[in-house]
Amino acid sequence: MKYGHFDDESREYVITRPDTPYPWINYLGCEDFFGLFSNTSGGYCFYRDARMLRLTRYRYNNVPTDTGGRYFYLRDSGAGNYSGDVWSPSWMPMKSALDRYECRHGMGYSKISSARNGLAFSQTSFVPLGDKCEIHKVTLKNESSAEKNVDMFSFVEFCLWNANDDMTNFQRNFSIGEVEIENGGSRIFHKTEYRERRNHYAVWAVNVPVAGFDTDRQTFLGLYNGFDSPQTVFVGKANNSVASGWSPIGSHHINVKLAAGESKSFVFVLGYCENPEDQKWEKQSVINKKPANALLEKYSTPEAADKALASLNDYWKSLLGRFTVNAEDKKMARMAGVWNQYQCMVTFNMSRSASYFESGIGRGMGFRDSNQDLLGFVHLVPERARERILDIAATQFPDGSAYHQYQPLTKRGNNDIGSGFNDDPLWLIFGVAAYIKETGDYGILDEMVPFDNNEALSETLFVHLKRSFEYPIKNAGPHGLPLIGRADWNDCLNLNCFSSTPGESFQTTANFESGIAESVLIAGIFVFVGPDYAEICRRTGRKEEAEYAEKEVAKMIETVNQHGWDGDWFLRAYDAYGKKIGSRECEDGKIFIESNGFAVMAGIGLEDGRAKKALDSVKQHLDSPYGIVLQQPAYKNYHIELGEISSYPPGYKENAGIFCHNNPWVTIAETKLGRGTRAFETYTKICPAYREDDSDLRRLEPYVYAQMVAGKDAVRHGEAKNSWLTGTAAWTFVSIAHYILGVRPVFDGLLIEPCIPSTMKEYTVTRYYRGADYHITVDNSAGVEKGVKSITVDGNAHNGNVLPVFADGKVHKITVIMG
Ligand code: BGC
Ligand code: NOJ
Repeated sequence: MKYGHFDDESREYVITRPDTPYPWINYLGCEDFFGLFSNTSGGYCFYRDARMLRLTRYRYNNVPTDTGGRYFYLRDSGAGNYSGDVWSPSWMPMKSALDRYECRHGMGYSKISSARNGLAFSQTSFVPLGDKCEIHKVTLKNESSAEKNVDMFSFVEFCLWNANDDMTNFQRNFSIGEVEIENGGSRIFHKTEYRERRNHYAVWAVNVPVAGFDTDRQTFLGLYNGFDSPQTVFVGKANNSVASGWSPIGSHHINVKLAAGESKSFVFVLGYCENPEDQKWEKQSVINKKPANALLEKYSTPEAADKALASLNDYWKSLLGRFTVNAEDKKMARMAGVWNQYQCMVTFNMSRSASYFESGIGRGMGFRDSNQDLLGFVHLVPERARERILDIAATQFPDGSAYHQYQPLTKRGNNDIGSGFNDDPLWLIFGVAAYIKETGDYGILDEMVPFDNNEALSETLFVHLKRSFEYPIKNAGPHGLPLIGRADWNDCLNLNCFSSTPGESFQTTANFESGIAESVLIAGIFVFVGPDYAEICRRTGRKEEAEYAEKEVAKMIETVNQHGWDGDWFLRAYDAYGKKIGSRECEDGKIFIESNGFAVMAGIGLEDGRAKKALDSVKQHLDSPYGIVLQQPAYKNYHIELGEISSYPPGYKENAGIFCHNNPWVTIAETKLGRGTRAFETYTKICPAYREDDSDLRRLEPYVYAQMVAGKDAVRHGEAKNSWLTGTAAWTFVSIAHYILGVRPVFDGLLIEPCIPSTMKEYTVTRYYRGADYHITVDNSAGVEKGVKSITVDGNAHNGNVLPVFADGKVHKITVIMG
């Protein structure tokens, strides 16, 4: 069944009941301050780094799921027959019965509205552009015919900044909490650790006078009470408690008198403030509140909050205006035109750090992940993509390999997941090529970029690319295929790990550095990006390097032909003993999706029918109603020579789960064969909007992609896990925008190459590209799957199917006739 619907006009998903099958969340913020916000007002916020600068506390793996957030409690003293009571307008945490409920998740904001016994509540939450804070505009309206007296209590629980310590180091934490209170309690400052090494504090404030406040959790809730039964709210009077140690919170108590029909609005601000080292204090023990005062001044009225929200809306309108789709298939149009791109912004910002499946304390930015995220983001804000590329490249080692992840605050590579994932270097070529194709900015190649974050080891970005390209060549195994190292794209194919110790990391352990285990996938990636590298060389006057690159690519194709083909599909890898993985000879794991998708995407086997054979095998062995599973048969037993992949129960994650991230590779590969109907089918199977009616099984948000959907071997086949932070976002965008709808940036312009179901008769795409707007109408009255018969540009016949770079700030009308 459904739990809501899309509102395409307002670009919102409207949730119509609070008890969704899992918390359905949104992200507030698109620059450096972020909030996770669920449909019942759960979640938390942080500035820049989810681990190091966490403003509010969130308990993972909690019972019930999603407890804790920015809560409001209402104590309606009643009127007429109604004797009044206490309730949660966002449903959680009290799970109050509501007469009305709706949550609208939009682009960077969410709105919850509800009503009970004639009192209506609405909360609009967002992070304004340019400021480091969340705004929660709350409106109460008396819809009854009698006057109402309402006590409203706000509630946030502060995190002691370092989210990891906050959840573990209680012997210290219970003694360090400090707050300051001003304006009679309407401004609450959380200043734990400010006296020593921090120069930042948090503020939780409301724009009206308050009746009281609380900053000590136990006083507010009662020691044996949960968020669902706050003692103070039931009593109806704040205690003006001042936290000292234990758990600092922020709660305002506001008396609201509402005549029949009257409404009142309040602006709550939850902000992050920083002071220069020498201006930390106003006087002994009193923090310098200047930055907080300026922020609160700015958002001191509901009108100011509305204005900030309007600017945010304009911002998103213009961003999403860069690529729009209009088609009869509304599900595809809204995903490709709105939600998929929105998710790409989120993955660009978060990498894999903070979601309801990623704790925000473990994983930083990934070398591989962040490069891939760029593919779906670069058309939105190319300048930020540029900066990101340079940050990522700076964590590369001089030999071309890379730290697998880096910290967003320091931008330095770290060893938490180690290095030696031998696919990593190649993703940098992907990212840079995508950026250049989008912008035409070859200048980025001349930027000086450190290796290993060491300025003394700086070289141009081009040198980084060269090292990336050479890495798999210099690190080839016995068959001439690239060595896999710790793992390749599949983090769980740990062929040199050989772990028998519980808890040992599959990714950082190498008990047996074989120097033998090889990856056909890395070979496929190499063949895919190699031509881009060669092209970049040629276009920047490096003719010899281009020729060398082309030779190496041809050599790699030959190697895959000789050692990477299994008869009906491409092999996946060779293990540390040189035994095949992903072969008919194997008992389990006979066929894998990744190497087949990538090899065909790269064009291997297109001429001799092997590409078609490989994709037919994928369909036959790996397909399911919910997408293509990663391999078959699933591993039934743990294989020490394979690593984490065989540690998962069959049907989950890398062990034959539907790992959505790699499904678009097959989609793209299908377009190479010109099979538009099949390409579109593989696209829709993992696309959340097509599964909206099936939300009880799928469970996660129908507006965003999930990393994994349980495969055919799993008990709940079709159930999704790990929504939001996944490479699926970028790759599905690439598959639909570039390869199905077929509007793809190339070095010289926009290539038009649709590959669609023959039943799709017409669609339009608008694309902002290098300074001009392209309004493209594709006419497929011929009912073909691929093939362009003619193109006109502004009414004139156009030769070939690459649209030129106009860069004239104008709108150009393009008509594409398929046939
Ligand atoms: C997961 C992978 C993930 C990796 C990160 C593994 O447990 O299965 O999907 O990328 O952890 O280190
Ligand atoms: C999730 C990781 O973020 C991604 O980098 C990896 O490719 C997949 N897991 C597959 O293991």
